[in-house]
Amino acid sequence: MDQIVNKNLLKVTCASSDDAIAVLNPATDEILTYIPSVPTAEINGLIEKSKQAQLLWQERTAAERCAILRKWYDLVIENSDDLARIMTLEQGKPLAEAKGEVLYGASFIQWFAEEGKRTYGETIPTPASGKRLMTIKQPVGVAAAITPWNFPIAMITRKAAPALAAGCSFIVKPANQTPLSAYAMAELAYEAGLPKDLLIVLNNHSSVAVGDIFCQNDDIKKLSFTGSTQVGSHLIKQCADTIKRTSMELGGNAPFIVFEDADIEEAVKGAIASKFRNAGQTCVCANRFYVQNAVYDEFVEKLAKAVAELKVGNGLEAGVNIGPLIDMKAKNSVMGYINEAVEQGAKIISGGRSLEGLFVEPTILADVTQEMEIVQTELFGPIAPVIRFENDVELVEKANDTIYGLASYFYTGNLHRAFNIAEKLEYGMVGINEGIISNEVAPFGGVKQSGFGREGAKQGIDEYLNVKYLCFGGF
Ligand code: SIN
Repeated sequence: MDQIVNKNLLKVTCASSDDAIAVLNPATDEILTYIPSVPTAEINGLIEKSKQAQLLWQERTAAERCAILRKWYDLVIENSDDLARIMTLEQGKPLAEAKGEVLYGASFIQWFAEEGKRTYGETIPTPASGKRLMTIKQPVGVAAAITPWNFPIAMITRKAAPALAAGCSFIVKPANQTPLSAYAMAELAYEAGLPKDLLIVLNNHSSVAVGDIFCQNDDIKKLSFTGSTQVGSHLIKQCADTIKRTSMELGGNAPFIVFEDADIEEAVKGAIASKFRNAGQTCVCANRFYVQNAVYDEFVEKLAKAVAELKVGNGLEAGVNIGPLIDMKAKNSVMGYINEAVEQGAKIISGGRSLEGLFVEPTILADVTQEMEIVQTELFGPIAPVIRFENDVELVEKANDTIYGLASYFYTGNLHRAFNIAEKLEYGMVGINEGIISNEVAPFGGVKQSGFGREGAKQGIDEYLNVKYLCFGGF
């Protein structure tokens, strides 16, 4: 932590105590620092403060709110090296990727600092004379979020920026594994002029307890969650009692499809970017590969060659492409998937070994079949199972054979096939000849059990706005 230039970013850290939460470096297993666990008895009080702050914030003009967000964006960019270092230390991803995430996270602040000025209502042609109809959009009120450890900044800004731009207040519970990035981002927001009660970051030993309070408190009008389908389903049920609006960005099981008419070199490049970003710990990353028979061997061979060049190690070291997994539970489950697939007949083409600490070799498994457990599970690790297919009809059936519907990818040189397959895939997002699809201008989100609601894009701010219909008569 000594190498962090702007010490103000780490104001929240505290001494070790029974109440404190230890933050670990997954690359070394060392304790980086401690943060306070906010007592659950205090959380409703924080929500009340957030509510009072929101009432004042919604009275400010959109231009005033957006100017503060814009300043926040500038400060994030100014501090991007420190933020990236903090992220690599607590999350493990290579420094270059962490820097990429800081910029990606910042892009949501910039985007919504602009979109916040454009939350237009409508005038509606009246069906009855003597009436004038229109809609206005108003902030939902207090918005809360529970965010994951895999993208410690971007998953917060993708929610906080539209919420704040819309005139909401925002309370976030970041993952206990990666809270430092969240607190650092909040410090920069305060420095930009955001009132402290408007953006509250809190952690507690029990994520479940915080989730319960968020769901039960009627002053929270919106809950946005990024995480597993299982937890998302629980939260939706919990939110039913207060009829709370929710957005759910849940699990994925992205198929990555290579047709025989694809540019194989490009498909391999896309596969590496999509599969091994963040050591495969990404909801949208390629989870299972379907390769048409005629190009199966060529693709597997070229993918293995590219994977052999990936360097595994501490993300702070130069040239490292794949960092550690987040914790031992994650590593054990990834190794379990590899071993089980091999027992069921899959063949290791590359990697497959558990390395010291939380590191796992990037792994390619060939001869994988649709029936294997590895095809149905969100792997969240650097494993690429490769399955053969013969024709488009069979492919679509296999690719859609999952409860999930977040991202999907395919490579083809045939435009007719591109439209046909894109329309048939039951996913919220489709990358066509492209392995990286996320950015601030696109509506990120899934269908089926991958959730609902869109983040980023012009749609992202509507998640934090209520539409009010006004009917004028008698004028
Ligand atoms: C995620 O893993 O949920 C987010 C990945 C992204 O924004 O690309």
